[in-house]
This record gives sequence, C-alpha cells and structure tokens, in this order.
Amino acid sequence: MQLAVNKTDQLKKKPDDSELTFGTLFTDHMFNMDYSPQKGWHDPRIEPYAPLEMDPATMVLHYGQTVFEGLKAYRTNSGSIQLFRPKDNFKRLNRSCKALCIPQFDEAFAFDALKTLLDIEKDWIPSAPETSLYIRPTIIATDPFLGVRASYTYRFFIILSPVGAYYSEGFNPVKIWITTDHVRAVRGGLGEAKTAANYAASLYAGEEAHKNGFTQVLWLDGIEQKYIEEVGSMNIFFVIDDELVSPKLNGSILPGITRDSVIQLAKSWNIKVSERKISIDELVNAHSAGSLQEIFGSGTAAVISPVGELKYGDMVLTIGDGSVGLIANRFYQTITDIQYGKAKDPMGWVEHL
Ligand SMILES: Cc1ncc(COP(=O)(O)O)c(C=O)c1O
Repeated sequence: MQLAVNKTDQLKKKPDDSELTFGTLFTDHMFNMDYSPQKGWHDPRIEPYAPLEMDPATMVLHYGQTVFEGLKAYRTNSGSIQLFRPKDNFKRLNRSCKALCIPQFDEAFAFDALKTLLDIEKDWIPSAPETSLYIRPTIIATDPFLGVRASYTYRFFIILSPVGAYYSEGFNPVKIWITTDHVRAVRGGLGEAKTAANYAASLYAGEEAHKNGFTQVLWLDGIEQKYIEEVGSMNIFFVIDDELVSPKLNGSILPGITRDSVIQLAKSWNIKVSERKISIDELVNAHSAGSLQEIFGSGTAAVISPVGELKYGDMVLTIGDGSVGLIANRFYQTITDIQYGKAKDPMGWVEHL
C-alpha cells in the first residue's frame, strides 16, 4: 500500500505553548484509511484535517462499533521528537478491534503512517515543560444501516492535538469517590478494549463524583462490587507494607501501557510487585492497620496521579499524610524523564521520529 500525501496550503495559526489545554485544538492534517470487504484496508492518505461527512444511519453513531487509542509525541530539550511505546498502542488497538469485530490492520504500516504524519506536523509539537502532542488513532464502523450486526466497512483515522501540562497547578493528590451504584465494565464485556461504550458507561458516576467534589471514580468489579478495578480512566496501584499491588488483568480492566511500565520499573528497582485481586475490604483494613502507604493511578494523560483521599459510603480515608507519596513521585519523575529524553531509556521504550 502506498501512503498518499495531500498537504493543505492554509495552515492554522499555532497556539502559544502557554495557552494549551487538553483536546481542544487540532493540527492541519490527519491520516485516513478505509476498509471494505472487497479491498481490505485501502486508500491510506494524509490530507487536510476536516470534518467527516456521514450518513445519519452510519452504524458507529447507533451501535458504538468503534475503537481508539491515546498516545503522545514529546519534544526533547534538543528539539528532537520521540514517542513512548507507540507500537504497544497499535498492538492494543488491534486487540480492541478483535473485541469489536473490526478487521485487523497492519500495525507496522499504521505506525509508519503516523511517523509521516508527525513529520509533516512536527512544528505543532510544543516545547514548554510537560506539554506534548496527543495522538488519537480511531476506527469507526461506516455502513449506513439500522440493524445490529458488525459493519462491513470502516474508516481508520488519526488526529493530533497539542496539549498542555496535565498538572497545570502542580502534581497534587486527588480525591476519589468509590461508587457501588455503577460499574464501568463486567467480565465477558468490553472492559479490556479501548472502546466508546466503556467511557459512556463511566459518565453518570463521573458526574456524580464531580457534583460531590471528587475528581474521579474508583471502579469496583461488575459482579460482586467488591474487588477494585480502575480509577477514572486510569489503572490503579497501592503500596501496602512496602509492596506494590495492582489489580490483576481480568478481562474487564484496560491493560495500560503506563501500568506495564510501572510494573517493569518496579521489578527493576527490586520493589516487590503483586498483580492480584484486591478487595475494598482489604484496603479499608490496611488503612486501619496503618499499612496502606500510597495509592496512585497510571495512564498516558497524567502519567501518575496520586490519590490523597477516598470516600467509601460514610467513610473518608486519607492516604498517607494526604501529600504525594515517595513511590508515586519516583515513578512520575522516572517515566516523564524517559518520555522527554532527560533520562536514559533502559527498557528500550522510546521511538525516535
Ligand atoms: C479505562 C482506562 N484505563 C487505563 C488507561 C491507562 O492506559 P495507558 O497507560 O495505556 O494510557 C486508560 C487510558 O488510556 C483508560 O482509558
């Protein structure tokens, strides 16, 4: 397949790094590629960023047959551009495709197309500390058809958005609301896929948490509502008695790339790590016994998000002294230093443009 490139001659005004927020501005070009049963994936092209024109009956709009990814391109102090484990994002996108009955795509081709797109858009990659270019690969079902089945045709697109520092007011712990009224995903469902349905399922409880003054929801399992799964749209870690614990991937948890990076780093630092079921009762007991030292979320957007307070029913648990834990801080510094090329990359995670 040959990647076609059609550049715009009407470039947008680029924002000042200090004005950047998250996900509101998009670059001049995007990648598009189509799928049909006759041609397979075909017609890959980079073209001016533009709205998608869709029939109102397009299947993605009705049945949510779609998958996406989120990763970032970083500018180093020397001005070069690098990516953090991007091939793992394309691998996960294909795994999500499988769960949603979307045809597999060629990961190496998609990664090369992304590099070409980034090369065209590299002036959009900000350079202020902690800013980056967010990359959103997405695949949608495009048959115009009002019946429930997998679509025959699809569109794969990649859009880019310059984003500001996640912690514009500093790296501070957040307050988390534990819900027993709502679940994000269930065993046998779509929880381990990065697909719209999981985010739709998270909105009601997220709104409730915000109304009550909390930043995110802590999700319990969808069957017994007893075991901890994720926090907001992040994976979750606990430090209990000097051991790093994260819920074992069970089919309803998204296998985060940051989660895997935290686990690999912890092992290389000889921190004891355990991926296992962890119940909310165990957590409450560890808190009462004084052995719960830290809680933090992990994900591409925030990298590491320390938890300072948990609300569970009438109980309010303050974690540690409510400030950022030493271990959370060490992961945050180490991973961001690798991402921005400030530290060595001992695991071979970085890809240079
Ligand atoms: C539901 C959910 N869990 C976990 C993560 C963290 O995954 P990653 O570390 O690959 O960004 C994300 C974000 O991508 C997510 O949306």
